[in-house]
Amino acid sequence: MHIHQTTFIKSAVKPADYPPIDLPEIAFAGRSNVGKSSLINVIVERKALVRTSSTPGRTQLINFFQVTGVPFSLNLVDLPGYGYAKVPLDVKRQWGPMMERYLSGRESLKGVVLILDIRRIPSDEDLQMLSWLRSYNRRPIIVLTKCDKVTKNERAKQTAAIAAKLQMDKSQLVHFSALSKDGRDAVWQAIQDAVEA
Ligand code: GTP
Ligand code: MG
Repeated sequence: MHIHQTTFIKSAVKPADYPPIDLPEIAFAGRSNVGKSSLINVIVERKALVRTSSTPGRTQLINFFQVTGVPFSLNLVDLPGYGYAKVPLDVKRQWGPMMERYLSGRESLKGVVLILDIRRIPSDEDLQMLSWLRSYNRRPIIVLTKCDKVTKNERAKQTAAIAAKLQMDKSQLVHFSALSKDGRDAVWQAIQDAVEA
């Protein structure tokens, strides 16, 4: 993927505020603090396009970005994370309907990158998100991030354990690190496959 330009379009809660559906769209989901915003910054080669934070639960709106590139242009969508206990109750209440409206109704949505921490066995919420995606016929792209934090042995062991928990073949899991940027091309390849499917 060769990127000419990436711009922030807008934040939205409800469909009336989403940008137009003139480009294919890929969204990024995962628990709070897993590294969604960091991954987006790395794949678009921008240091701070998306705000990242050591405080979980920073992203609480649906954030739309537009990437102009070759061989294709698309929108990237940073979805608010789940599973963070300290998020205010009104924000938590808004989260489910906000996600459901987006995932069920967004016509241009071609795939959802579900980001998991290589060091953790997927939680019930991760599994719920995966089954939610499948029930809306949204193609899941599973990315295991923070791979820089594990040894080669741990990486192999965790990959097998996570694949078993997800009931997927481990060849379907994409490895990534925002620190080393390893896996950037593999993430783009998976996105391209989803856009062209
Ligand atoms: P919310 O928006 O709060 O849901 O979080 P997020 O999923 O967008 O996570 P974010 O990208 O803000 O990253 C959370 C923390 O993890 C930050 O301190 C990042 O620097 C760190 N981090 C993210 N990806 C990696 C990675 O691949 N390796 C390492 N070592 N740290 C990472
Ligand atoms: Mg974020």
